[in-house]
Amino acid sequence: MRASIIAVVNQKGGAGKTTLAMLLAGSLGDRGKRVLVADADSQTTAVHWAGMGAGFPAVVEDCSAEEGKLHKALRKREADFDYIVIDSPPAAAAPVTASALRIAHLALVPVIPSPLDLWASVRIREAINLARERNPALLARLVVNQMQPNTLLTREVLGMLPQFGIPLMEASLKARIAYRECAALGSSIRNLGSRGALAALEVDALRREVETLLQGR
Ligand SMILES: Nc1ncnc2c1ncn2[C@@H]1O[C@H](COP(=O)(O)OP(=O)(O)OP(=O)(O)O)[C@@H](O)[C@H]1O
Ligand SMILES: [Mg+2]
Repeated sequence: MRASIIAVVNQKGGAGKTTLAMLLAGSLGDRGKRVLVADADSQTTAVHWAGMGAGFPAVVEDCSAEEGKLHKALRKREADFDYIVIDSPPAAAAPVTASALRIAHLALVPVIPSPLDLWASVRIREAINLARERNPALLARLVVNQMQPNTLLTREVLGMLPQFGIPLMEASLKARIAYRECAALGSSIRNLGSRGALAALEVDALRREVETLLQGR
């Protein structure tokens, strides 16, 4: 079976692409899956994360030089992994984003519940629709990141999401120091032990939902 490929994309900088990609990859790796994180962002934040020393449970490689040829480079790796998670730069129109969306089975779009972030995310919806001309089976989901439940703004923004044209995942990530700690340590969420227990539940729910989405492919 060839790898399931997940592209984490958004036009908006700082929406949580790297955080989502690494938490998901770490959770899959902790469950014994063979995971490659293809860091397609020249900031190489995912590579830095994995290099912090705690022993990240996935292979994390700098693929930023591949640019528009990323899909070709990843085709050669598909047989070696169960999952390939692509972390992309904040650039919907970049050749590397188009290349990631061309090969992906699932596009995940992290969004912070703020109107500014939603406006900026419209470009990624266009990029996903364009990618479907060549990759018609491409699934796409919004993932709410830095969720602050029970605020009026969050409720209003969440109310706007159904009109966005990309379905929303049930799982979401709250704003938590534990996620920043994982980056500082170079680890997955499991490494934080009981300190990260609530965060680990959130990441587990996200992983399970992603696995279910990709089951039928
Ligand atoms: N759920 C969260 N809880 C707490 N901090 C978070 C969360 N998600 C992201 N952050 C923090 O927000 C900042 C931006 O996140 P991240 O680097 O993952 O975004 P990005 O979309 O990859 O950014 P870029 O567009 O620059 O690649 C980082 O400092 C990260 O630690
Ligand atoms: Mg990033």
